[in-house]
Amino acid sequence: MKQVNIGFLGCGNIGGGVWRLLREFEAEIARREQLAFRVRRVLVRDVSKARGGNIPREILTDSPEDVLADPEIQIVMEFMGGEEPAASYIERALLAGKTVVTANKMALSTHWAELNAAAQKTGAGLYFEASVCGAIPVIRALTDSLQANRVEGLMGIINGTTNYILTRMAREGSAFEDVLYDAQRLGLAEPDPTADVEGYDAAYKLSILSSLAFHAHVPVEKVFREGITRVTPLDIACGQEMGLTLKLLAVAKRSGDRVEARVHPTFVPSTHPLASVSDAFNAVFLKGHACGEMMFYGRGAGDMPTASALVSDLIKAASAPRHKLPEFFGGADGVSVDSDWSSVYFIRMRAQDKPGVLAKVAGCMAGHDVGIASMVQKGEPDAEGRVQLVFVTHSAHERAVRAALAEVERSGETSVRSVIRVEGIE
Ligand code: HSE
Repeated sequence: MKQVNIGFLGCGNIGGGVWRLLREFEAEIARREQLAFRVRRVLVRDVSKARGGNIPREILTDSPEDVLADPEIQIVMEFMGGEEPAASYIERALLAGKTVVTANKMALSTHWAELNAAAQKTGAGLYFEASVCGAIPVIRALTDSLQANRVEGLMGIINGTTNYILTRMAREGSAFEDVLYDAQRLGLAEPDPTADVEGYDAAYKLSILSSLAFHAHVPVEKVFREGITRVTPLDIACGQEMGLTLKLLAVAKRSGDRVEARVHPTFVPSTHPLASVSDAFNAVFLKGHACGEMMFYGRGAGDMPTASALVSDLIKAASAPRHKLPEFFGGADGVSVDSDWSSVYFIRMRAQDKPGVLAKVAGCMAGHDVGIASMVQKGEPDAEGRVQLVFVTHSAHERAVRAALAEVERSGETSVRSVIRVEGIE
């Protein structure tokens, strides 16, 4: 039996889940893996605070040195969250030769180069399955199981909070603010929801996923990001009528040396596997040149799902004969990321219901080479004689669509209310 001493950095919900899973699975791990884990120190903010799970009081500490400078600790598990001081602590642990297992997508995606360099310098391992999509083993799949593939692209629902909100907006026809308020009341959304609803959380995760998928660093600053705060129940309903379902999608594509990485509200055909991913569930749909299409689905957050990924990384780290780090082409500064991608677009306008208006709109689109695939006029004219026009375009360049719509708006008769990208249509 190999004994491995570990130290925790942080012990909130996730740390508590890891503690419980380690205790619950102790005998299984010993029998199957010949490993015995001993938690030597647990860094917490307040050592006097009551904690569940029978964590012995004497292993709690509020000094990071007790974990980072303890030569007996071989593996550090980090679940403090946030960029700092977590990133500095991870780097110090790696430079001290300690392997790190972390759930921290923010520290990892914003300090990837330094952390990788520190691990390379000492030969320590850096494991981060839990940083993206909780329990779903998508990192392990990209780094191990799919190595014989050139991944051409991936699309993911990688933020559970926004998927929960959009699912309820679609089911109930409710406004974003109302569902968010309810989700906060139920403890399903954070009191400060910015990281989730503005797409930051998904952007950190997409930086990690796309870097591994394309073997090239896609820095988080280069990930295009748009949140769900401006999504309306009317857009969702119009999309549903056209056979489309709205999701906050993380999209990454590669074509030769060109990469695109973006997080934004996206319609997918309601028949697409991602359309059926509801509530707080996560999923990643990818395509490899040899494996074809596949989808990973599961729980992306929560104490035990996240602990599942962390403890499995811990077992892998403790049994690995040598640690493997991702190799990136194109250097640590990253690849060049495209900002003028092509996509299908859903466009909703409010326009005067009179002859010639539609022809002008179509003319502006045609003038910028934006083809119209379908169009519906919705409802009766309102008090100002205006109606809703909804278009779905053929695949077009983002800049061309923006230029066409700016011209439409200049006419004064038509105002553009929503522009939502559509993926999953060949
Ligand atoms: N807040 C994230 C989500 C979970 O809603 O999916 C942690 O990454």
